[in-house]
Amino acid sequence: MAIFISDDKISEIRNTTDIVDIISDVVSLKKAGKNYIGLCPFHTEKTPSFNVSPDKQIFHCFGCGIGGDVFSFLMKHDGLSFPEAVRIVATRYGIEIPTQRLSPGQKRKINERENLLNVNRQAMNYFRHSLLERASGKKAMEYLNKRGITKDTIESFVLGYVPEGWDNLTNFLIKKKMSSTFLEKSGLIISRKSSSGHYDRFRNRIIFPIFNVSRQVIGFGGRVMDDSDPKYLNSPETPVYNKSRSLYGLNMAKDKCRESKTVFIVEGYFDLLALHQHGIINSVATLGTSLTMDHVRILRGYIGKTGRVVLVYDSDDAGLKAAYRSIEIFDKGYVDARILVLPTGYDPDSYIFKFGKKSFMDAFSRAPGIIPFLIDFAEKKHGDSIEGKIRIISELKGPLAAIKDNVARSLYVKELSERLGIDETAILEKVRDISAKNKAKESKIGLKPIYPSNLQKKGKKSEYYGRTSNESKNRIERQIIAMMLQFPKILHEIKERDVLDCFVDSNLKSIGQSILDYKEKLYNHDRAPGDEHEFANGNRVSEFMNFIDDQEKKSIITSLALEEESWELEGCIKLITQFVETSRNRRSKGFIEKQIKEAEEKNDQELLIKLLIEKQNMAVLKQKQKMALLNRSIREA
Ligand code: CTP
Ligand code: MN
Repeated sequence: MAIFISDDKISEIRNTTDIVDIISDVVSLKKAGKNYIGLCPFHTEKTPSFNVSPDKQIFHCFGCGIGGDVFSFLMKHDGLSFPEAVRIVATRYGIEIPTQRLSPGQKRKINERENLLNVNRQAMNYFRHSLLERASGKKAMEYLNKRGITKDTIESFVLGYVPEGWDNLTNFLIKKKMSSTFLEKSGLIISRKSSSGHYDRFRNRIIFPIFNVSRQVIGFGGRVMDDSDPKYLNSPETPVYNKSRSLYGLNMAKDKCRESKTVFIVEGYFDLLALHQHGIINSVATLGTSLTMDHVRILRGYIGKTGRVVLVYDSDDAGLKAAYRSIEIFDKGYVDARILVLPTGYDPDSYIFKFGKKSFMDAFSRAPGIIPFLIDFAEKKHGDSIEGKIRIISELKGPLAAIKDNVARSLYVKELSERLGIDETAILEKVRDISAKNKAKESKIGLKPIYPSNLQKKGKKSEYYGRTSNESKNRIERQIIAMMLQFPKILHEIKERDVLDCFVDSNLKSIGQSILDYKEKLYNHDRAPGDEHEFANGNRVSEFMNFIDDQEKKSIITSLALEEESWELEGCIKLITQFVETSRNRRSKGFIEKQIKEAEEKNDQELLIKLLIEKQNMAVLKQKQKMALLNRSIREA
């Protein structure tokens, strides 16, 4: 896995890191006993089930089942590769990673993502250079000046320019010995349809690099400087650029978002730059796509559960469309959303340049929530005649029914009833009709729970998301794995008695085997007398997780490692003894039954009688064991 970075270095980095510190950047965590808890950034929830353990240096969400160590957190949350995650953590804690000379074989192996990020960075530098240093950049600079963009903004957002011509960037990158097939993947160059060769996607445009929160360049936007078409061009989606999870300006905005518990969302690059330049740093822009649930989840990590999202639009129409679309997103995301519609003819960019920050903030202070916004709008549109009121209700019953939160829904229904002077129950009835219809639809389709999007694709779900009937069957097996993770004294016993052989659940069985293998490896490599290598101590669990590639298994491990239980040897041995006996019994019973069936088929009377007696004896034995157990527990009680 680690291509540049030695295992020792990785261990050093892991041991220096504080997972709570890293995760706190994006999730607001509260102390709860030994652990920290917060709202899971990978699925939507109202009550925190996302746990971070500073002792074990792992995280686990008991809601969606996701879990892992600090590196897997960064990989999932920021879409990084393993080496990227390791490097980010190392940089943060000032640990230097010695760079090794790469063999051609290693070079080939360096993953695609790193290369793409690298190409993007080089392209960004090329664009910047073209804006700042080249003669042709002058008119671009003039354009930016004309739009009020300052030198500071240009620098902090690393704005750039790409000159006129079909192959400026193509030539620049190909000179750097990058293959054109690879460059195509970055979306920066496009292969010619009619002849061979490639050409630049962006030509004669102002360039906006798009950064992720780790300040890696993931894509670009480009604007023409006149009114030719298309006004904007954007990078396509690539392995490093996912539009529905990316927000322009978030890398600059995140700290202020956390501090103010508020984020402004605008639509355009220039809108974002203008707000930023006027000191409204806690703003981001969606990138030619509408706001997604993922965006909201990411933002909620910064603004927290009680934070506010302010959607800024330049017309009632745009605001209205967004409001309708957003109800579900926000209702499920449980954040307070406001709709700020600017006066006709202004977008955030032109508004703030004309009226200034204070006026913008005043407008924000009057911005209604989504449903009040819809109510206002419907009232304006339909008036307060009887017919008008009927239309208002029929327009709003859909959005109201879409609100999943019962309390919120009742409050809005109450508000509507007061404003229209219509009985609450009458409105509720209309809303319920729709809700019932929606429910029927949902159950037919089988409403999918919200999975972290990167896992959804693999089509794995029920087994570790949510409780299945298997889970109760596996209860004891899970308990034994938890014991192995938290109470390593038992490992010897588990191995000697071949306990894992009795496991039915193949995942649990293989986790158990990995634990035994890991122990063996530790024992052979850094033997320390008397050292039990407790997984539960220090970072052993998170270290061990590194040997597990499978996400599903990682999830099981973090969940079991976090369930705090106290173990004592005698109880543990009792449990495994009982487990081994019942499962062997079950097996031999199954075996006898199979033999009986065969004897019946062959009509072998003699054998049949023998087997039936044996079966009966087993039942008697089992009954006796049961009675003995019962007696013992009565005595002990
Ligand atoms: N957009 C896009 N492709 C287009 C038009 C728009 O991706 N062809 C996206 C861009 O991110 C743009 C945003 O939608 O910034 C808003 O577009 P628009 O309102 O048309 O432009 P403004 O942001 O107002 O741009 P400007 O002020 O430069 O005219
Ligand atoms: Mn504009």
